Amino acid sequence: MSSISNKYIKGPKVNPSAKKDSLEAKQPYVDNGISRISPERYFSAEFMEKEWENLWSKVWLIAGPTSDLAKTGDYFIFEIGRESLIITKNEKNQIKAFYNVCSHRGNKLILNERGNLSTFTCSFHSWKYNLDGELIKITDEESFREGVICQNAGLSEILCETYAGLIFINMDSKACPLIERLGLPEGYLESYSIDKMKVARHVQSEWEANWKTGVDAFYEVYHLHAVHPETRTVMDDVETQYDLYPHGASRMIVPLGRKSPRVNDQETVDIGLETMLASAGIENKDFPVDAKLVRNTIQKHKRNLAKELGFDYSNLTDGQLTDSWATGIFPNVQLGLHPEGIFLMRFLPHPYDPERFFYDTMTLCRSSDNPAYRVPDWMGLPEDLDLSDFSRPMTEHFAPNEPANLGLVLDQDSQLLPRIQKGIKSKGFKGPLWSEQEQRLRHFHCELDLYLEQSK
Ligand code: FES
Ligand SMILES: [Fe+2]
Repeated sequence: MSSISNKYIKGPKVNPSAKKDSLEAKQPYVDNGISRISPERYFSAEFMEKEWENLWSKVWLIAGPTSDLAKTGDYFIFEIGRESLIITKNEKNQIKAFYNVCSHRGNKLILNERGNLSTFTCSFHSWKYNLDGELIKITDEESFREGVICQNAGLSEILCETYAGLIFINMDSKACPLIERLGLPEGYLESYSIDKMKVARHVQSEWEANWKTGVDAFYEVYHLHAVHPETRTVMDDVETQYDLYPHGASRMIVPLGRKSPRVNDQETVDIGLETMLASAGIENKDFPVDAKLVRNTIQKHKRNLAKELGFDYSNLTDGQLTDSWATGIFPNVQLGLHPEGIFLMRFLPHPYDPERFFYDTMTLCRSSDNPAYRVPDWMGLPEDLDLSDFSRPMTEHFAPNEPANLGLVLDQDSQLLPRIQKGIKSKGFKGPLWSEQEQRLRHFHCELDLYLEQSK
């Protein structure tokens, strides 16, 4: 094995002194082999069908954050592949999930993507259901012969669980409990208090690529120097720590406020780092003179500021205060975790085209009554966002090639992905050759294979 491989098997470690059982400790290496996957999985309709039957219909999926269902009667629609699901909160404050289909003749029951209702009324013949999915009114009930309206006339319910401020659903009624499949250690997601965050922006854009082409692109920072070169002055893409967890979960800790070792000048605090310092609320006069001190300066400042703002950062390490803990939850989620807020990215399969997916990204942030606090610029939220009281915005939808205004880095990815997708389909491409910087990709595909090998 070459020395470069050894380096990536042992590390890198963002915090070499992290205790073994701490959340930031480097996880033991997982050997997922060296085999080359076949490219068909990225474009074959047959493979897509197999994924529908054995993956999407069987796996726990994040439908949304719990903050999207604050009150009784709040609901939202989760579209996944060919299915549409209603997620709602009932009178007992329980979160329930149903197929979004009327039991009478199969009409799509709810058409709006979110809202608040006390009952669900079908637009075809006005059958009515309560928030528990029970059928409560049949128009002209006397016109149905006895026995036609049987006891199964309510909505079809789906398994639903909440964890760390996130709502998960599973279309397989025999699925094992979420906790047995999540893969992340206890306390990991909880440390970010996602349950105290609200969606401030939600964008869904359609990209001309397979959903896994999307996952793959977001699961490594190996491409940053080439595709996003402007990140090199603020982000350490080389000493990024990659960790693999059970059940296909994984994360990378990307140190922010630290220059990439690919940059020659490691001392100058240039515009990228200055913007980051200013965005953390640090005044010019307090900027450090050496770039190597920036990350630490921001950490200290945020720790002090949190006390003033009443944010509880006690469960977060110093590293978590600056770095991005990009965390993958199998199969289709990456969470960009930060103390001020999170980016919840979902790679949603297209209903019938294996070469399209929906890149769905929600930006959640903490609310604050303190007017001195504003969300960092890099979160891409409106400057005038009133953090003491903002309402959940509707989802912004964008068609392929329509600029979604997601920021420079994501715009670069959205242009890149269709090109990768085309290349993957070429007869000249024999399947990816992954480095240890891409170990999360191999881990993800190995877990996918386990699902696909299961018989129906
Ligand atoms: S299909 Fe819904 S009431 Fe007829
Ligand atoms: Fe990228």
